[in-house]
Formats: sequence, C-alpha cells, structure tokens
Amino acid sequence: MAQTPDNASLNETYLQISPNILASFPKFRPPVDLYVYDPALGRTGCFHKAGERLSTEGQAEVARFAEGGLLFLLRDDYRIYAEHLSKRLGLLLVEEGFTPQEVAEIFFLAFRDRMEDFLAQPREESFEALRKDASVLAEYLWIDPARVAFLTHTMDREYSLAVHSVNTMLVGLALYLRLTGGKVEKDVLVSLILGLLLHDVGMTMVPKFIRDKEQYLVRRDRESIERHIEAGRNMLRRLKVADPVILECMEQHHERTDGSGYPDRRFVKGISEAGKICAVADSFSAMIGDRPHRSALDAARAAETLAGDSRKYDPKLTALLAVVMRESATA
Ligand SMILES: [Fe+2]
Ligand SMILES: [Fe+2]
Repeated sequence: MAQTPDNASLNETYLQISPNILASFPKFRPPVDLYVYDPALGRTGCFHKAGERLSTEGQAEVARFAEGGLLFLLRDDYRIYAEHLSKRLGLLLVEEGFTPQEVAEIFFLAFRDRMEDFLAQPREESFEALRKDASVLAEYLWIDPARVAFLTHTMDREYSLAVHSVNTMLVGLALYLRLTGGKVEKDVLVSLILGLLLHDVGMTMVPKFIRDKEQYLVRRDRESIERHIEAGRNMLRRLKVADPVILECMEQHHERTDGSGYPDRRFVKGISEAGKICAVADSFSAMIGDRPHRSALDAARAAETLAGDSRKYDPKLTALLAVVMRESATA
C-alpha cells in the first residue's frame, strides 16, 4: 500500500482509509464522507457523501484510491468511524494506521455497546459476541501489555451499569497485567475480561430505584441488592457459563479480606485472585462514576482511599492500583 502523502495539514484534517477498512464499509453506502487526495494538485476533494448510493464504478474507483493511499475521511467524522470499527474489532489487530489512543477509544465504545446489548438481553448469542470481542482485546494486550495504560485512560464517569462494567474490566485487567508483569496466557485474559465485565450481571434483576439509592438503604433494600450475586449465578447457569474465573469474579467481588463482605463472608484465604482483583476494580469503578446523589471522586483520590483500607482489600493490589492510575494519567 502506498504511504500517506507527506503533508502535515492534510494529516491534521483527514484520516487515511486503508483497503482493509474500506472493505468493512457497506459497499453501496459508506458511513462517512469520502475524500480523495490529488497528488498533482496537492489538494483534497470530496468524492462521496455519506449515506448516498455509490455506483459499482464508483466503488471500483474508491477501492483504487484506497490501494494508492489516497482515500481519506474527515477527522471530524472520527466518532462515526470509531462506532463503525467498534463492531469489527478484529480489524484493529491488522491495521497499523491507528494510534494506541484511538484503538483504546474504539475498544471502549465496542465493549460499552456490547454490554448494553447483553444486559438488555442476556442470551447466549450476546454472550458469544462478548466472548469474541474479549478474544480480540486479549490478543491485542498479549502482543504488548503496556497498551493497557491507554485503555484505562478511556474510563468514563457516566452512570450506567454498562459503563461501570467496562470500567471495572479495564482497571481489573490493568491490575492483573501489572501483577503478572505481562506474562499471561491469552485464555486466562479472555476469562478475566469476561468475569470483570459480567461481575454485576445479576444487578439487572434488582429494581432500578433500589440500585440508584446511595444512602439510607433500609435492610430490605440492602438484602435486595445483595441478592444480585445469587441472581448472577442463576443467569450464568442459564447461559451455561462454567468458567471458574468468570464465576469467581461474579461470586466474590463483594467479599472482603477481613470477612466483612458478602455473600459468604469469606476471609482472605478463601477469596481467589480473580475475586480480589474484581473487588478492587469494582469498588474503584463505583467510586469514579457519577451517581444520582453524588458526583464522582477523582481517580487518584479513589485509589488512595482504597489503599487506606488494607483490612478489606488486598494491599498488594491497592498499591498496584496507584501505579496503574499514574500510568493511565500520562497515557
Ligand atoms: Fe456487585
Ligand atoms: Fe460492580
């Protein structure tokens, strides 16, 4: 493939579209405006408007432009482009044109959308879709574990179960990669990604007005919230999920090392590594998210608060959390 024309102002305004990416667009209706660079004139002009029908000849022409490295989209259309790519994550493994920040943002959007779908309809098909995306992310991090810093940088404060689940997954992964020095197996990463994402799946069975309460929970409300573990267990059983790492994250993320957690009041030795990682990641993610009754804590403050609670959380992990957040802040 030809190189991007060496033109700083061009690259400021436009992003190149590779043949691989072009092939992922709907043939007749590319989702973004297409621009073509004319090297003779040193100018870029609009070739096709998003949503309009592209003729067969037009498609062939566009394919040639992409092959020659002359096909672009406006950087302003990046959101549309990222949404499109988030449905085809596998492309991120073969494309070299993205910055790690762009890849991280696309992963975030993809998992947020997948989780919204899954939580709305937790069926085997939506679980399989999640598993496929989890494999792509595992592969991406396995190639270079340091990339996780860009991912934790994308964490969002929006209050929703889907965003909370994705934030938990990103911070939990970062902790695990730090803990292992990046020496990990892809299969384990896939399981951990799914476990962290699905830890609160049972919350979909708790009435939203109770979930939204922050303070003054009466005993009945508290019991209803605590039942999300049992509900999660039933849901995963129905989905035929038996992976121990996924189950440990879901069942143990509210256990605390001093035995004060739920549902089994386990002590430090009875909590698995995945359970301890998920506990720290889940609490952190809850603290940095906006809630109806309070605004979010900043990341450094939240990490500090958890590190100060060494009776309830594994101190090795909360110490790593501070490191992970420092790396994320500079990514
Ligand atoms: Fe939970
Ligand atoms: Fe949670």
